[in-house]
Amino acid sequence: MSFGKIIDKKNNDLSKRIDKQRVPEHVAIIMDGNGRWATKKGLPRTFGHNKGVSVLKEIIKASKKLSCKVLTVYAFSTENWSRPTQEVDYLINLFSEVLRNEIKEIHQESIKIKFIGDLTPFPENLKKIIYNSESLTKNNESLLLNVCVNYGGRQEIVKVAKRLALKSSIGEIKPSEVNEELFNSELLTKGINDPELLIRTSGEKRISNFLLWQLAYSEIYISDVLWPDFNEFEFHKAIIDYQSRNRRFGGIESLQDESCNDSSCSS
Ligand code: FPP
Repeated sequence: MSFGKIIDKKNNDLSKRIDKQRVPEHVAIIMDGNGRWATKKGLPRTFGHNKGVSVLKEIIKASKKLSCKVLTVYAFSTENWSRPTQEVDYLINLFSEVLRNEIKEIHQESIKIKFIGDLTPFPENLKKIIYNSESLTKNNESLLLNVCVNYGGRQEIVKVAKRLALKSSIGEIKPSEVNEELFNSELLTKGINDPELLIRTSGEKRISNFLLWQLAYSEIYISDVLWPDFNEFEFHKAIIDYQSRNRRFGGIESLQDESCNDSSCSS
């Protein structure tokens, strides 16, 4: 997982422009563009997913270096089942293979890995590797890596609504007690602060059913770079852009006013 210092075209280390005191604690990423990257190169789409894994490793390492606390990535959506069986099978095998090959290093790096989504339809061998990986790394503290698989934001919200309705019907809670805090406590991300920053690669400007509740106030950064071409440098650009935003949460007070206004960090 090693890689050198990232140097931009002007020979500047972009990481020096990052305010280490204002790095987002939780970054969420929609890793998009694997298929297009491969197709552009005349390769099967699966090659894009394969290259995407090495990019993910680079970004995990970069997040850790910046002392981000949580990285949440969208690896397989509830809608991805509609892809050709061959591609779905490839992705499922890839998850198993990557976990088998990388879990030792993930653990050594003190990364805690958690899978978010409905694991029911996945093959038993994958579920076993997932549970073992989660169990092995559960006490690690350097970075929490949430991998969203068979995840859908609407499905998550409906499940929470059902659970609260059930609790109400058996008298465990009163309908009047349902509030944002209670709702949060039933989400798959319970106990984790919402992402301050969402990065989506490949230029698409959609949320695509990702963390619908949790992204309510996240800053969104769209990178035109396809995920297999994304790297630490592009990640730093996203962080610098985030640090130039004025996060008001619906209010009017300016919390931050620094800006990244030269071309080396515009996307
Ligand atoms: C989106 O690109 C990417 C995916 C659906 C899969 C992402 C998965 C990985 C990078 C592997 C991660 C592995 C682990 C173990 C976490 P796309 O296929 O939708 O690309 P397109 O929009 O160009 O078609």
